[in-house]
Amino acid sequence: MCSLQPNSERKPSIVILDFGSQYSELIARRVRETEVYSLVLGYRTSLEELCRLSPKGIILSGGPNSVYSEDAPVCDPGIWNLGIPVLGVCYGMQLMVHQLGGSVQAAHGRAEYGKAPLSIDDPTALLTNVLDGSIMWMSHGDSVKKLPDGFLRLAHTANTSEAAIADHVRKLYGVQFHPEVVHSTKGMEMIRNFVYNICGCDPNWTTNTFIDEAITQVRDQVGEKRVLLALSGGVDSSTLAFLLHKAIGKQLTCMFIDQGFMRKGEPEFLMDFFDKKFHINVEYINARKRFISKLEGVCDPEEKRKVIGAEFIRVFEEESLRLGPFDYLAQGTLYPDVIESSGTNVDPKTGERMAVKIKSHHNVGGLPKDLQFKLVEPLRKLFKDEVRKVGRSLGLPEEIVRRHPFPGPGLAIRILGEVTDQKLNCLRDADLIVREEIKKSGLYNDIWQAFAVLLPVCSVGVMGDKRTYAWPVVLRCVSSEDGMTADWSHLPYEILECISNRIVNEVSDVNRVVFDITSKPPGTIEWE
Ligand code: XMP
Repeated sequence: MCSLQPNSERKPSIVILDFGSQYSELIARRVRETEVYSLVLGYRTSLEELCRLSPKGIILSGGPNSVYSEDAPVCDPGIWNLGIPVLGVCYGMQLMVHQLGGSVQAAHGRAEYGKAPLSIDDPTALLTNVLDGSIMWMSHGDSVKKLPDGFLRLAHTANTSEAAIADHVRKLYGVQFHPEVVHSTKGMEMIRNFVYNICGCDPNWTTNTFIDEAITQVRDQVGEKRVLLALSGGVDSSTLAFLLHKAIGKQLTCMFIDQGFMRKGEPEFLMDFFDKKFHINVEYINARKRFISKLEGVCDPEEKRKVIGAEFIRVFEEESLRLGPFDYLAQGTLYPDVIESSGTNVDPKTGERMAVKIKSHHNVGGLPKDLQFKLVEPLRKLFKDEVRKVGRSLGLPEEIVRRHPFPGPGLAIRILGEVTDQKLNCLRDADLIVREEIKKSGLYNDIWQAFAVLLPVCSVGVMGDKRTYAWPVVLRCVSSEDGMTADWSHLPYEILECISNRIVNEVSDVNRVVFDITSKPPGTIEWE
């Protein structure tokens, strides 16, 4: 597959050079919250490329290294003379100081972690409207010892004498804390000061401008050709369907493959919503029998994923031939996938770029590499929260916009061991009760995921005067920022009680409900 990017790509107003911080993406998101378009690039980005992009400001991220270590990642020192304002955050600030002739001292037991009140020495420029005593999030070992010529101190903390610094003339700024994290109470104020007052950016990165630009680009890219989209009902593919429908109308064909592992009522809801209500052309492919028969006797979780993934590709290929020909395939690739796959992060040991996160799962919607499609990926500039805004603005209901993540192989991986129709029906009923009760409690939007898992072991119970010998259902409910780590949700007893009562009373073949109180790590969110 070859990926075609439209020529009229929007240039970033702010470039974030990534030195391996876990917060680089977060800085980019914070800048975008001010309606200023930002991109994360590797720290080795050349001066030539920076000049081509001509951002109005550059932010240097933090990073795990010391500027004096042998393999410390460094940017081209020519950056200081481009006439572009620069804000260095933690390591970024130390690098600025180091390269401009100041000095940095090693931690030697003086590392500072956590919240610290900021004492302000110069309440201008970066610190305009930042109150003395504002709390900032510190997380650093090394600190600045001697400022380079032309720099002055803007603020200090009890443990760090140079907590914020500036060369007002050259518009170079540094902070030893993390303005991007929520614990820094006036962090957003600083980011706004930097992007608006210091860099002179305009707030022009809005949902509506994004939608207008994306529509123009898609039209330019595909012309009169036909586009195929595999719709799953998740927020990404749903937003993509709406956006493409608006851009190219009937040239878009969505394919919804029902493998039989979706939640109760979801296939019907999707078809009603997209096809009937919004007249988006959706081809419903009922492949339930194919999938379940392929899973006969398959118990191993990885094997299950492989079988489902391979069958998905087969169905997709067959159906795309039947419905085609198509020139383009639309994919809901998001910005974090782009950053990850271009590997802008830095291995602290080797200084080499590496991916921030290791993706634990690939969607079964993942398609073979050798399909003869060109790609349309209009969401590849967006973070997930931006996709939600775009989806909402295009008219997607909250039910889809706020939908909890759902694995591509669906309920098949939430049934441990072999998948059968009986188990699927049982899990679907239990899962619906969990969703209904969590929604009723008003907690749905505070929770990352809430679902039921079916364990294929029987235990003894008693119902009425009868002995039962049936399966347990696990209630899994977690809070998380990104799915990489998670905590079990401390649900009120009344909700637990209600879910448990309803499941044992209403779902046949289940006589017990247990609540999973394992965080991730060491557990995972799904059971499999
Ligand atoms: P685990 O179980 O690894 O899951 O803690 C982390 C997050 O990933 C979701 N997940 C998937 N998402 N396709 C997806 O799009 C998949 O195959 C898949 N498997 C797991 C999971 O629900 C959780 O939010």
